[in-house]
Amino acid sequence: MEWKRYRALLLPPIPNLRDISVYEAHGGYEALRRVLTDPAWSPERLIEEVKASGLRGRGGAGFATGLKWSFMPPPDGRPRYLCVNGDESEPGTFKDRQILEYNPHLLIEGALLAAYAIRASAIYVYIRGEYADWIDRFEEALEQARARGYVGARICDTDFGVAFYVHKGAGAYICGEESALMESIEGKRAYPRQKPPFPAQRGLWGRPTTINNVETLANVPLIVRHGAQWYSRIGAPKHPGPILYGISGHVNRPGVYELPSGMPIETLIYEIAGGVRGGKRLKAVIPGGSSTPPLRADQIAGITMDAESLRAAGSMMGTAGMVVLDEDTDMVRVLLRIAEFYHHESCGQCTPCREGTGWLVKILRRIAQGEGKPSDLDLLLQICDQMEGRTICALADAAAWPVRHTVQRFREEFEARCRPSLVAVPETIPS
Ligand SMILES: Cc1cc2nc3c(=O)[nH]c(=O)nc-3n(C[C@H](O)[C@H](O)[C@H](O)COP(=O)(O)O)c2cc1C
Ligand code: SF4
Repeated sequence: MEWKRYRALLLPPIPNLRDISVYEAHGGYEALRRVLTDPAWSPERLIEEVKASGLRGRGGAGFATGLKWSFMPPPDGRPRYLCVNGDESEPGTFKDRQILEYNPHLLIEGALLAAYAIRASAIYVYIRGEYADWIDRFEEALEQARARGYVGARICDTDFGVAFYVHKGAGAYICGEESALMESIEGKRAYPRQKPPFPAQRGLWGRPTTINNVETLANVPLIVRHGAQWYSRIGAPKHPGPILYGISGHVNRPGVYELPSGMPIETLIYEIAGGVRGGKRLKAVIPGGSSTPPLRADQIAGITMDAESLRAAGSMMGTAGMVVLDEDTDMVRVLLRIAEFYHHESCGQCTPCREGTGWLVKILRRIAQGEGKPSDLDLLLQICDQMEGRTICALADAAAWPVRHTVQRFREEFEARCRPSLVAVPETIPS
């Protein structure tokens, strides 16, 4: 099979690749130099190349990257910005930090190329504060790049220059939402902004801004180095490229695996991650981070990790952070834990989110404690109806989707918990 011959591009097994000399010795910064020095590579051409590659965002929503860049208005001589989203807050997701640790120059080069394409004057890399070690590693790499003339004024002896800043987040999930991230960089509380206007119209300090995920930008030098056609042939045709699959939960070999997009879920679990722990049977898979609807074991046959296949199966690609759950998993407890997370992380601006996440927790908690009523299940679904698509940002949707789909797909398990039982259940559910 093709994936067995795949050679890693984002995280190649090259010792000490984070050292700029090693990175350069393996072709690093050549794509940047080519784009900046060859007059054929105008910003417009770079945007067209990224569009032709089919690259889609790796931060969760899977939006087409080249198209997003093309939303930036024509330059007016005033500042405009690129934000790099390294907040990595979606539970089950731990792949961006691998780039920050093992291949930070690939991200720096990708961000510089993106800044050139959208004509940004400054780049802000927003990294969650808990990633202290990874921030240090990244800052070391940034200093090396600055010393070599890749950051600052007259990059590669051209007229192109860009400032580069690292901003440390304080560890709130909402800071990863693009408009909240901008508020946070501006020194304010991370409250999401109402859209429209979108960031390309009114972003950081009211100026045009593009926001991309760390992994998304790390793909850009590969597209320039090898060409859009080459890139678009990797993996799934409508969602191409390498993917960092973060596999966790009840598998024998959890970890981050770089493979082409469109990998069969079964291959990822049984061949890549060594199968279900303890030889147990599979019960469910959360394919792309905690907000993506879980699939039952009998729903995953033939399903591949790309937007189209997962949508057809009733889920989403998200961040490709796959959580594997075995047959002994208590789905009520899993869902309660997820709901508690979103309740805790709601910024509280919108009533359906602030109140809705609280009600979801309250009802799920009483079901988990054996005090639920059969009517609670429909009540949960009604609350989801009142949350989805009615708020400033998508956190409310992210909170509602797992509830809706877990209750629907594991309804018997939830109903059984709402029937009177002779089995004692713990009075309090540890979180
Ligand atoms: C509540 C919430 C949290 C988010 N957290 C992250 C995050 O931690 N990292 C990230 O890249 N995108 C996150 N996103 C998505 C961003 O808003 C944005 O779509 C993304 O960074 C765009 O990058 P991309 O187009 O390269 O995927 C989050 C969205 C929401 C609604
Ligand atoms: S949906 Fe939730 S997190 Fe998003 S702005 Fe509204 S209250 Fe805040």
